[in-house]
Amino acid sequence: MLSRRHFIQSSAALLGLAAAASWLPRGALAIDPEQLLQRQIPGSDERLPVIGLGTSRTFDVSLNDNSLSPLDEVMRTFINGGARLIDTAPSYGNAEAVTGELLKRTGTQRKAFLATKISANSRARGQAQFEASLRNLQTDTLDLVQVHNLQDTRTQLALLRELKDQGKVRYIGITHYLESAHDELLEVLAREPVDFVQFNYSLAERNAEKRLLPYCADRGIATLINRPFQRGQLLDRVRGKSLPDWAMEVDASSWAQLLLKFILAHPAVTVVIPATSKARYMADNLKAGHGRLPDAALRERIVRAFS
Ligand SMILES: NC(=O)c1ccc[n+]([C@@H]2O[C@H](COP(=O)([O-])OP(=O)(O)OC[C@H]3O[C@@H](n4cnc5c(N)ncnc54)[C@H](OP(=O)(O)O)[C@@H]3O)[C@@H](O)[C@H]2O)c1
Repeated sequence: MLSRRHFIQSSAALLGLAAAASWLPRGALAIDPEQLLQRQIPGSDERLPVIGLGTSRTFDVSLNDNSLSPLDEVMRTFINGGARLIDTAPSYGNAEAVTGELLKRTGTQRKAFLATKISANSRARGQAQFEASLRNLQTDTLDLVQVHNLQDTRTQLALLRELKDQGKVRYIGITHYLESAHDELLEVLAREPVDFVQFNYSLAERNAEKRLLPYCADRGIATLINRPFQRGQLLDRVRGKSLPDWAMEVDASSWAQLLLKFILAHPAVTVVIPATSKARYMADNLKAGHGRLPDAALRERIVRAFS
């Protein structure tokens, strides 16, 4: 029997790309969703595709057709590419509501793994924020809710544990985005049971390799990696520079894929969550979840190429 990918490839070859694209769901052509690497959520039998989607700034747009249609394409590319985890937050302006609207428009609500956050200073505010997130994301339950930037951690984690016991949240976690907060993340992890921890890690910010990533591997905590491109600044370093030939040794066809593969090569990484407002970047990022990952020597070669 023909695999879906071979069917799509041969059909595209026969009919021509444009003709084939007209009957396929938008964004479906280039990537075989079944080949996207997945990793287990420790302590569960659930696996997640390693490429996720951040929404900070990129999804903070007006809820009108003009603003939503390019993001509609990002969402279709993401879901059609086999990816699932979307990270958003009440503090990202319209991003939660835009995510909810795009999932509805594309009919993909049930495929997504929805992660949002709580950033509040009291239990009552945390509870109200959670209810607002459910409304914005147009859902009754959430897959993951994280305490944002360690704000009011004890109170909010206690609330999240209750919501988990009630079946309104499946997993709980904590986040930060600065290396200076990694020690505090570790302190919280040592005293509070959580399922996920989200933090910054990239070839330019490697502090997490020292203690945080090994700790998560040892204790069975899932990791989400934010700021993989340092908000795009890392890609500015190589603008106009051609991709080295050795990139093909790890099946990378862009600088962005090299950055993401550098991160995914760490075995304690569960999902990396680059943000983008462009479908072509989304497709590019998904490709980083395919093919070979760099070994230690190639990782250092990637570091040197960006220095
Ligand atoms: N405290 C926290 O919990 C926390 C803090 C920071 C981030 N986060 C999460 O982590 C996510 C990612 O971090 P981030 O948004 O700060 O930055 P990032 O993912 O490191 O960088 C995003 C930027 O990279 C560009 N980009 C994406 N893919 C590209 C590609 N293939 N080629 C070229 N450029 C590309 C995007 O450009 P375009 O806009 O042109 O597409 C965007 O401007 C956030 O969206 C958020 O969900 C959480």
